[in-house]
Amino acid sequence: MSESGCQEPATRPGIPSVGNRVTVVLGAQWGDEGKGKVVDLLAQDADMVCRCQGGNNAGHTVVVDSVEYDFHLLPSGIINPNVTAFIGNGVVIHLPGLFEEAAKNERKGKSLKDWEKRLIISDRAHIVFDFHQAVDGVQEQLRQEQVGKNLGTTKKGIGPVYSTKAARSGLRICDLLADFTHFSERYKVLARQYQAMYPSLHIDMDGELARLKTYVEQIKPMVRDGVHYMYEALHGPSKNILVEGANAALLDIDFGTYPFVTSSNCTVGGVCTGLGMPPQNVGQVYGVVKAYTTRVGIGAFPSEQNNDIGELLQSRGKEVGVTTGRKRRCGWLDLVLIKYAHMINGFTALALTKLDILDVLPEIKVGVAYKVDGQTIPHFPANQEVLLHVEVQYETLPGWNTNTTAARSFDELPENAQKYVCFVEEHVGVPVKWIGVGKSRESMIQRF
Ligand code: GDP
Ligand code: IMO
Ligand code: MG
Repeated sequence: MSESGCQEPATRPGIPSVGNRVTVVLGAQWGDEGKGKVVDLLAQDADMVCRCQGGNNAGHTVVVDSVEYDFHLLPSGIINPNVTAFIGNGVVIHLPGLFEEAAKNERKGKSLKDWEKRLIISDRAHIVFDFHQAVDGVQEQLRQEQVGKNLGTTKKGIGPVYSTKAARSGLRICDLLADFTHFSERYKVLARQYQAMYPSLHIDMDGELARLKTYVEQIKPMVRDGVHYMYEALHGPSKNILVEGANAALLDIDFGTYPFVTSSNCTVGGVCTGLGMPPQNVGQVYGVVKAYTTRVGIGAFPSEQNNDIGELLQSRGKEVGVTTGRKRRCGWLDLVLIKYAHMINGFTALALTKLDILDVLPEIKVGVAYKVDGQTIPHFPANQEVLLHVEVQYETLPGWNTNTTAARSFDELPENAQKYVCFVEEHVGVPVKWIGVGKSRESMIQRF
């Protein structure tokens, strides 16, 4: 020890150990790429599956033994009996929605009977109130009346709750578990602010508060200091930790097709801020890419096909929203936006899902560049007006006219399907590790 009290250089601790690395699964388009299925596959070897952002606007489908489960707030990995599910501080929680979702899935599968014992909730997560959902609906109506178009939100209160979070008037899980009288007062202040803003809004304050009170004892055993919990998970014994991204890169509040986006960071940065985790702990980052493109709701969609191709993709792909039941808009795969998502997320590999939906097409187009005023642009435009008018440059690849749903290895895919996969990886510069050829767990080809 020196006179100053500092340790001598030779006895100083070295660089602190990073701890466990976390595997991240993120949507690379406008959502519904098949993240639930990829997470389910990886969760079979995981100890912990985390959600870091979004709320029950997400709708993740998992098919196990022909039973279809849909997850909205619960991390889908919870279907695996050895998994602990963690809902981080970046997630916004509608408690009635969470319990309804859990009850619905519990009835379907016995592995979910003990879900309450395997779910951990961060005390810093913000609460979505019923009035946030009502406000979401009112704001959509006003947009329609005032601007002539709405955003096409899921009406789950996502925009309003993240707004109250940013305005510092939101309430968190830790507030609900502390003094209920104080919680109720703050709840009423917030509710009255919204009533003042939207006089037609009816809020049953006493009714909602009474319902919220019933959840207090139920969630108490699940709630932890999320930062401490995550730190222990990262630095304890070796653990396989998975993060299930919700929504997707093009819906990200900063990088998406603003304003037609959601209200959280669905890209890799949201993993650190939404879990309280240092960036060094991010390990593999898997981008999930549908073999064509879909979008629910409003907003520019350069490769959209408002024709027979779009209808075929919609019907063969059963492209209907899991959360809202809306038909998804469909179009060709757009690699300009996948490359853009890669620039932000640094994907280490891709999962290319729903290749089987393309099985019947004689030829398949892939967007590879955008032109504006006849000039190829080197970036993905921020401005919606520009994006609405870009001219997509396509490459046309031959189809394979063969049913791929039984393929279980890359070699079993028809040559033209293999070429399609290789085209994607070469163009984006990221290897395609998995290829989806059906809904079930088994219908996933792993290449390496
Ligand atoms: P997520 O939000 O990204 O989890 O995706 P969704 O669950 O909203 O939508 C994906 C849909 O495609 C679900 O119905 C899945 O069961 C289905 N799916 C996923 N991968 C494949 C695949 O490779 N082939 C087919 N045919 N369906 C798939
Ligand atoms: P998963 O996780 C597809 C879209 C909505 C709307 C916009 C804003 O299943 O891929 P919000 O309710 O978030 O304020 O809506 O974002 N959206 C999604 N679209 N999949 C999702 O999640 C989505 N989450 C939000 O349709 O256009
Ligand atoms: Mg979905």
